[in-house]
Amino acid sequence: MKKKILSAIMAVVLTASFCACGKSGNDDNTITMATNAEFPPYEYHDNNKIVGIDAEIAEAIANKLGYKLEIEDIAFDSIIPELSSKKADFGMAGMTVTEDRKKSVDFSDSYASARQSIIVPENSSISGPDDLKDKIVGVQTGTTGDLYVTDDLGDDHVERYNKGMEAVQALVQGKIDAVVIDNEPAKVFVSENKGLKILDTAYAEESYAIAVNKGNTELLDKINKALAELKEDGTIDKIIDKYITAE
Ligand code: ARG
Repeated sequence: MKKKILSAIMAVVLTASFCACGKSGNDDNTITMATNAEFPPYEYHDNNKIVGIDAEIAEAIANKLGYKLEIEDIAFDSIIPELSSKKADFGMAGMTVTEDRKKSVDFSDSYASARQSIIVPENSSISGPDDLKDKIVGVQTGTTGDLYVTDDLGDDHVERYNKGMEAVQALVQGKIDAVVIDNEPAKVFVSENKGLKILDTAYAEESYAIAVNKGNTELLDKINKALAELKEDGTIDKIIDKYITAE
């Protein structure tokens, strides 16, 4: 039931943004952000709205630049193609800067640091990355978690899910042995499910940035300038503090 309502809402959100994104970059005043709103606290659905750190930072940037923000919610691994085909103006999705992605997109200055965490059942014998060999690890498709685990353990040891939460549910059901995912969503997912814990040793350290289509320096410069101002005046910290409570 809940799922049905969610997908109905998503359909509305998608239709709304598709109407605008065809026009983006032209004479109208909208700017379209592509994201995957299955990633609390960075982007997620709250009633029929997409909220979170990225949504609020994007809103603040759009305001500064005089645009109306449209958010397009799509699969994580569709975000970069969406930029390449110019259907969206920028991607913001807790997206990690990687050398490989830099071949297709240009990244802004970083606005957050993150790490890939390992989630296991409380009674698991897995105590660090080295124990993952021979295990089955769940990841969200196309994320850095997916790339690292596939590289290190081989395809046979990876289960890919459309949403991080689905990987966590599979872990709760005992279908897989661990989940590798970004630390902040990991905290949210572990708090929403019984019997799970996050290991102290992280899989990797990374940083998040906004992506634009390769070569769109005009927009990238504007975004970097707005980001710098929002860092300077404390807006970014304020938004992050609103969603992440310090440990
Ligand atoms: N940081 C990871 C990456 O860039 C995962 C990001 C997933 N984001 C999302 N909105 N689902 O690959």
